[in-house]
Amino acid sequence: METNITFTMIKPDAMEKGHSGDILSLIQKSGFSVSALKLVHLTKPQAETFYSIHKEKPFFEELVMFMTRSPIIVAVIKKNNAVEDFRKLIGSTNPKEARKGTVRKLFASSMGENAIHGSDSAENARIESSYFFAGNEIF
Ligand code: RTP
Ligand code: MG
Repeated sequence: METNITFTMIKPDAMEKGHSGDILSLIQKSGFSVSALKLVHLTKPQAETFYSIHKEKPFFEELVMFMTRSPIIVAVIKKNNAVEDFRKLIGSTNPKEARKGTVRKLFASSMGENAIHGSDSAENARIESSYFFAGNEIF
């Protein structure tokens, strides 16, 4: 399994507040290079599919409404040990628990609206990247 790519989304809250430039800059300064990137406005079915693992959770409807609220940036980024290192860089799901200097500590306001997504495994990085990009764009 490819371990040097991961998939990220800069979520609606961060986009609306104008943080996308600062977040991309932090990602690049942390040693990741951008392989593919675009602006998309998720449809309801796209958001439901992307987060289908959470479809039974009480926050699912709120999550789908949030993720479809504004355009987002989706990107494939590259670095050795990308998945693990990127999860460290974004910080805990709840920004109150996120370490100093992490994206969520710096830019997120709540558990639900937490600025950024990072894949949680190499397999999911590949699956999530292929929702938005063709294979030749990813590598
Ligand atoms: P993500 O998938 O977006 O990178 O976030 P994560 O792994 O850190 O967290 P996960 O458990 O996968 O949850 C997915 C997203 O659902 C929203 N959420 N809201 N209100 C709540 O209790 C709650 N819990 C989760 C967040 O936007 C979270 O990132
Ligand atoms: Mg997750």
